[in-house]
Amino acid sequence: MSHVLLQEASFSAETSGGSVRIILQPTTLELSEQRIAVIGANGSGKSTLLRLLNGLLLPSTGSVSVDGLDTRADGGAVRRQVGFVFTDPLSQLVMPTPLEDLELSLRRRVKSTTARRQEAARLLQEYGLEPLGGNSIYELSGGERQLLALATVLAVEPTLLVLDEPSTLLDLRNTRLLRSRLAGLNQQLILSTHDLELALDCSRALVMDAGQVVFDGAAADAVAHYRGMYS
Ligand SMILES: Nc1ncnc2c1ncn2[C@@H]1O[C@H](COP(=O)(O)OP(=O)(O)O)[C@@H](O)[C@H]1O
Ligand SMILES: [Mg+2]
Repeated sequence: MSHVLLQEASFSAETSGGSVRIILQPTTLELSEQRIAVIGANGSGKSTLLRLLNGLLLPSTGSVSVDGLDTRADGGAVRRQVGFVFTDPLSQLVMPTPLEDLELSLRRRVKSTTARRQEAARLLQEYGLEPLGGNSIYELSGGERQLLALATVLAVEPTLLVLDEPSTLLDLRNTRLLRSRLAGLNQQLILSTHDLELALDCSRALVMDAGQVVFDGAAADAVAHYRGMYS
């Protein structure tokens, strides 16, 4: 299990008007449970918090580290360890076909071209995408794309998987498929979601509001807290 540490980590950005807006208030957290959900309204700062975890964003103040690796000083090592799945899979599928996308992800880990193709084919099969390996990414359904994005990120063998609203674009059937996929993984998962069922699959959940973590506890209690905020 990875050990993620935020120490007074905040994130600010300059607005178009030139003033500085604090998007994430100074936050101190220790994240080491196997499954952690981040819930909260649109604009509450969930994506910002998640992006700090793999160095996609660097904290404006304070620090973020993963297993002792600082996201500022050891960015490359952190990104190899922390996989990131975006809400829209098309933002991370860069090759024309699923097979090529998986091969690209495997480049660092599998050096031989032949072995890499075999491993990519095996992963396609594992994810039930094998008949689509040579198709265009654009011909895949939203659910197939999200599974492929998950497969390409996992191909790098990260120890921590961060997912930003992975089921937001999926229908009920594909959301269930994704949930069962995620439930079967050994990696530590930290995910943001509006799907409270997905949040309840986690052991711990953070509730965010206006750039702050306003509740941190067992997922069922966090979901109850979140519901209470709007009743
Ligand atoms: N780089 C940025 N510059 C200015 N505002 C930003 C930037 N990133 C995020 N924001 C704003 O900060 C708030 C929180 O964003 P975000 O973390 O994406 O929230 P969430 O994922 O919970 O919807 C939003 O109001 C968003 O518009
Ligand atoms: Mg977001």
